[in-house]
Amino acid sequence: MNLIDDYKRKHDYLRISLTDKCNFNCVYCNPKNHFIKGLQKNYLLTFEEIERIVKLFASKLGFKKIRFTGGEPLVRKDVFKLFEKVGSLKKDYGFKLGVTTNGSLVVNKTGLLKKFGFDNLNISLDTLDKEKFYKITGKDDLEKIIGVIEEAERNGFNPVKVNVVVIKGINDNEIVDFIDYFKNRNVNVRFIEFMPFGSNDWQKNGFISYKEIKESVEKKVKLIPAINEKNAVAKDFQIAEHLGKVSFITSISEHFCSTCNRVRISADGKFRVCLFSQGESYINFKEMFRNGFSDEEIIEKLDLAIKTKWEKHPEPEELANALNNNMMAIGG
Ligand code: GTP
Ligand code: 5AD
Ligand code: SF4
Repeated sequence: MNLIDDYKRKHDYLRISLTDKCNFNCVYCNPKNHFIKGLQKNYLLTFEEIERIVKLFASKLGFKKIRFTGGEPLVRKDVFKLFEKVGSLKKDYGFKLGVTTNGSLVVNKTGLLKKFGFDNLNISLDTLDKEKFYKITGKDDLEKIIGVIEEAERNGFNPVKVNVVVIKGINDNEIVDFIDYFKNRNVNVRFIEFMPFGSNDWQKNGFISYKEIKESVEKKVKLIPAINEKNAVAKDFQIAEHLGKVSFITSISEHFCSTCNRVRISADGKFRVCLFSQGESYINFKEMFRNGFSDEEIIEKLDLAIKTKWEKHPEPEELANALNNNMMAIGG
């Protein structure tokens, strides 16, 4: 059985948010903490519940990829116990495992992630300037994050993906610096269009499109289109004599909804068929588990929910006004 929607999209990539909390406070994510009540500990899915979800999706719904997100997933207490357990399920179910993190709490632990079976490590880094790093994140951690990217490369993440959210007037003058800096490294730099969420003060004049970002790169280097990963959100390019690829994630100017294979579960167990789904999903894993639903009953509900998925997300202005949406709870 597969989760297939009305537009014939088959879903096989699950993103699970482990917490809505973060030890950074990035300007593009949650500058004012508005609309966020903050989850109490007992609202979070337990590790046992997350394991059951992973087993269910991997063994009964054919899911091939699981990624942990947040907030910052690593602030979740004892998270390495969960990572070890879920990693150990890979041999039976054969999925790929990933985590998207700000990197600050994986220092000296990237080897452990590899050992537990993590295939993908995506680290957010929006500037190479120490002061700007502080302004964007509220933390003085630039060296730490640069260091942990190197550590991850050494420990076999091949490549380490570095996520750069590009915002006009903040870091758009650093696009070429990023490419130069990682030229000889096993790093895939990914420039991401700034996406609007009700809670992130998205402004049209802070937005810089894929086309503009790419043009500023092409003034300096030639981009050679590469073969994209299947269902990927990123458009990949190579540059002669550069080790890693450079990519663009064009959620707004050229959305990739027609090949979407992703569903999400929020830290408190709500199923989301789209990153930008409005309102709360009516399917909640915590409730279903507590009410003794069998896997088969849950699958029936998921199958109904996936049929409500829209063809593509609405226009940015509408997304910016969607009050129920925030990146902290959904995890990107
Ligand atoms: P890979 O497993 O390496 O393909 O990771 P990923 O790109 O799926 O995940 P990551 O968490 O690194 O996300 C990178 C950027 O893509 C973030 O800005 C996400 O918010 C965005 N993104 C991820 N999935 C989706 C999606 O389904 N729709 C949209 N519009 N953006 C997404
Ligand atoms: N637009 C685009 N990407 C975002 N991220 C967080 N907020 C936004 C936004 N408004 C990115 C983070 C992280 C990933 C999960 O999503 O930088 O890399
Ligand atoms: Fe999928 Fe929604 Fe992202 Fe489009 S915006 S790719 S439908 S999750």
